Amino acid sequence: MYDINKIREQFPMLKNKKMQGNKLVYLDNASTTFKPQCVIDAMNKYYLEENANSHRGDYDLLFNMDKKVNECRELVAKFVNSNQNEVVFTSGDTMSLNLIARSYGLKFLHKGDEILLSEAEHASNLLPWYEVSHLTGAVIRFIPLDKDGVLTAENLKKAISDKTKVVSVAQVSNVLGNVVDVREFARISHQNGAILVVDGAQSVPHMVVDFKNDDIDFLTFSGHKMCGPTGIGCLIGKYELLQSMDPYIVGGGMNVTFTKNIEMIPYEAPVKFEAGTLNLSGICGLKAAIEFLMDIGVENIHKHDVELCEYAISKLEKCEDVIIYNKNSKNGIVTFNKKGIFAQDEATLLNSKGIAIRSGQHCAKILNDFLGTPATCRMSTYLYTSKEDIDAFIDAVINGGDILDAYFN
Ligand code: ALA
Repeated sequence: MYDINKIREQFPMLKNKKMQGNKLVYLDNASTTFKPQCVIDAMNKYYLEENANSHRGDYDLLFNMDKKVNECRELVAKFVNSNQNEVVFTSGDTMSLNLIARSYGLKFLHKGDEILLSEAEHASNLLPWYEVSHLTGAVIRFIPLDKDGVLTAENLKKAISDKTKVVSVAQVSNVLGNVVDVREFARISHQNGAILVVDGAQSVPHMVVDFKNDDIDFLTFSGHKMCGPTGIGCLIGKYELLQSMDPYIVGGGMNVTFTKNIEMIPYEAPVKFEAGTLNLSGICGLKAAIEFLMDIGVENIHKHDVELCEYAISKLEKCEDVIIYNKNSKNGIVTFNKKGIFAQDEATLLNSKGIAIRSGQHCAKILNDFLGTPATCRMSTYLYTSKEDIDAFIDAVINGGDILDAYFN
């Protein structure tokens, strides 16, 4: 049974925390999530008892840290069903996508090649490819969304050609919450000689993602959106692809040797992509976060998110002042506007009642043309969100009163 009270007890941020004098209702989980005590303890333990570097010495403290890094790599591999040597530690999803664009894109793309993206992408999955396009002459094309904002395999089939070398899409849109059928996307991409990059920032924390069986070429995600620390994330890449790429950054830890002849021999993947000291407290925290999620069960988390999301939509739908942009959302994200009220004003009103949501363009600035509005409000749930949180949110949206009160009270 999903014991929401037991889960909530483990989060210090959910204990009597207030905002604007009201009980905090945190509904900005697509942006970042709270951390359970076990994650905070794992990070503190690193600094209090385990503090050492990794890969760079011959003493027990450091060996123990090497062991922890390997254990975390093993756990990440198990979590997304990849091999351990396919897991690269990065600073987060954005860094992972930049690494792919720079190390794969700059090496293998040429003038006239095509990169397929979607209009719903976050800046982190557009701008690295814009750079590749500018530097190589590869052309960027956008797979159109269907009328509901869904990125379908049908539309990928229409957009892809033998010029396409990379298809790079978010598995779950950070604005619309729609889920892409990545297995089908991989099949179509491979059939046309392209690789599939999956931005898993909003999927890996919320649903079972299967790197191997879905035949994904690259998968990226951040720790902080799944109860882990900021500053740590992963790039999962098929081993032969990782091996074919050059390091994005170079320095200590990633090389076997270098000489005065200006030569350097890198280690094999994944270590060749991990120059410099790793974020070791982050790795300890990420390990604890994944253990925490696995203990609850990612499929249970998904079910919880979907139930809350459907409940919120069913209530908002009844209010004719509310425009919902993703009525079919299946991933804990509801994006909406109050008619005649600018999104930031609505978010400010909710803030005055202790409710945290995100408003604006959500870093997916091309999507606003599709949505036909300059900005939207987005509420997003996670494993600790309660039905009471949603009720407080609905009540504030429907009966919130005058937005000016939020500014002048
Ligand atoms: N990617 C994060 C969001 O969607 C920051 O809010």
